[in-house]
Amino acid sequence: MAPLPKFPDGFLWGASTSSYQIEGAAREDGRGTSIWDTFSHQPGRTQGGETGDVACDHYHRWPEDVALLADAGLGAYRFSIAWPRIQPTGSGPAEVRGLDFYDRLVDGLAERGITPMPTLFHWDLPQPLEDAGGWLNRETAYRFAEYAELVAARIGDRVASWITLNEPFIHMALGYGLGIHAPGRTLGLEALPVAHHQLLGHGLAAAALHQRGLNVMIANNYAPVWTAGTTDADVAAAHFYNALHNELFTDPLLLGRYPDALAEAAQGELGGIVRDGDLKAIAEPLDCLGVNYYNPTRVGHGEPSPENGGMPFTLHPIDGYPVTAFGWPIVPDGLRELLVGLRARYGAALPPIYITENGCSTDDVPDADGRVHDAARVDYLDSHLRALHQAVQEGVDVRGYFIWSLMDNFEWAEGFGQRFGLVRVDFDTLERTPKDSYHWLRDALAHRG
Ligand code: BGC
Repeated sequence: MAPLPKFPDGFLWGASTSSYQIEGAAREDGRGTSIWDTFSHQPGRTQGGETGDVACDHYHRWPEDVALLADAGLGAYRFSIAWPRIQPTGSGPAEVRGLDFYDRLVDGLAERGITPMPTLFHWDLPQPLEDAGGWLNRETAYRFAEYAELVAARIGDRVASWITLNEPFIHMALGYGLGIHAPGRTLGLEALPVAHHQLLGHGLAAAALHQRGLNVMIANNYAPVWTAGTTDADVAAAHFYNALHNELFTDPLLLGRYPDALAEAAQGELGGIVRDGDLKAIAEPLDCLGVNYYNPTRVGHGEPSPENGGMPFTLHPIDGYPVTAFGWPIVPDGLRELLVGLRARYGAALPPIYITENGCSTDDVPDADGRVHDAARVDYLDSHLRALHQAVQEGVDVRGYFIWSLMDNFEWAEGFGQRFGLVRVDFDTLERTPKDSYHWLRDALAHRG
């Protein structure tokens, strides 16, 4: 395979994970219940009824996982902090044993020269907050800022860069709109207040982190939107979907307003809840923008109906591309397309970018020696890095790239069925085995000097 092109000096190479997907130890050291504990234990919610009770047992095996990062030559680690470990009921004083865990992790990373990049919220909301309305309730935004402050007070002396929320669009859409993720609500477009309250929580937490002189970003999921047909109705549907998926969580941050295409919704679902001063709080300056990219989305006209949650669009398959084990189309140039598109839309308002997630699931089967030949992942990463390099050549300021994921983990509604890791995890023995992609990455990074 040809060597990877050269990325700018100081470019950060990392891997990403999240708390509920890897930690396990669900009832240890005072950890409270999260919406994912509740949801995954309900019949029929996850494949095979699987849960994150044990997951990768990272809570106990983290030194081994930090060693895997270091041996790969990765310079950064994006992990998330489990809010219910810090505030078991979602408010009140910190559970010190929870903070101790992340304190040890941060020190362990520092010993190996790895930059920590924590995400404060990767979907595991404390259940008592959900019982009070979750992100439909404005109060959750204030609780989030208080929680951010508790964590920063403890590890902010060693952690310079912070991510507030992971993929607020996916959390709103799958968690509150369609019921595929926790908390399992099926509100359709009536889930829109979840967007505003997450954005407000982000802004308030960002201000608290800035008070401490820390850098702040958010990790958004972006999908280039491709129009399914050529009719005006198709174009309008794609325009609306683009506003919902891509602009809703970026325009308020960078432009201080909601996208025009959502004006009607802004009058309706958002009308009563956006208060004076909210947009100013949300537009707290971002130091960097986190971009998670998996694939484009093809969208055409659709009649709103109760069955589709009142959505004025239909999602169409993207044919003609290879797919991952998940069935997601592999479109490396989509990464370039979205980055160039972000720069075109936001211009000077666009801060430097980190790719905070990119990767694929593969049907890994270990051979007789236990080795995992995940050539499809190597191809995926190689092709996406070339597309990323092209975007950098075209002038997009990208500072780093984080692979999803360091290791196989609990893939939400898919249980342990989809494997995204550079490292295989045997979920019976919890043994870790670096895959071929891990060795490929280590060699590629070593050759860069
Ligand atoms: C999420 C991860 C997830 C990955 C693959 C992203 O949407 O942030 O938690 O595992 O996609 O589905």
